[in-house]
Amino acid sequence: MAYSSSASALLLLTLGVVALAEPVHFLDCGSAVGKVQVVEVIPCPVQPCKLHKGESYSVNVTFTSDVWSQNTTASVHGIILGVEVPFPIPQPDGCKCGINCPIEKGKTYNYSNKLPVKSEYPSMKLVVEWKLLDDKSNLLFCWKIPIEIV
Ligand SMILES: *[C@@H]1O[C@H](CO)[C@@H](O)[C@H](O)[C@H]1NC(C)=O
Ligand SMILES: *[C@@H]1O[C@H](CO)[C@@H](O)[C@H](O)[C@H]1NC(C)=O
Ligand SMILES: *[C@@H]1O[C@H](CO)[C@@H](O)[C@H](O)[C@H]1NC(C)=O
Repeated sequence: MAYSSSASALLLLTLGVVALAEPVHFLDCGSAVGKVQVVEVIPCPVQPCKLHKGESYSVNVTFTSDVWSQNTTASVHGIILGVEVPFPIPQPDGCKCGINCPIEKGKTYNYSNKLPVKSEYPSMKLVVEWKLLDDKSNLLFCWKIPIEIV
């Protein structure tokens, strides 16, 4: 009885973690003209996110802008042994990632993009740094998360 209830508690806990684990812990790396609320990597049931080669992950970010901006561009890097390596993403134009441009001051936006993990990437741990720049190249957001390519 005690065993089965703790087993089902564990099962519930595990299911709960799977369902709720999508918002990831991130480090802000200098969001100057915006504020990040939530970063989601889907799927990422356990952190640090294990990203499988040949798969593509959804990255959804909720942020608030402190500025008006005509347009917005993303810049994504992997940080490997302290060196920033460009991480190609399919859509660098933020206005095509769920944001209705121009961006308005004080408004909250859901940014959503894809992070494709190419099969030729090496298996390694690294930090992904995702920046979204406004029309003056100021940072609407900058966050980083550790990941592992497997
Ligand atoms: C962003 O997404 C969340 C949850 O998916 C939703 O509740 C919210 O209304 C969305 N906000 C905007 C500005 O679209
Ligand atoms: C994340 O963005 C994708 C679109 O790229 C959307 O289909 C999905 O519902 C979003 N997920 C959440 C949890 O907001
Ligand atoms: C974004 O807007 C700025 C200011 O209006 C402009 O100089 C720049 O060329 C635009 N960039 C893109 C990618 O459209």
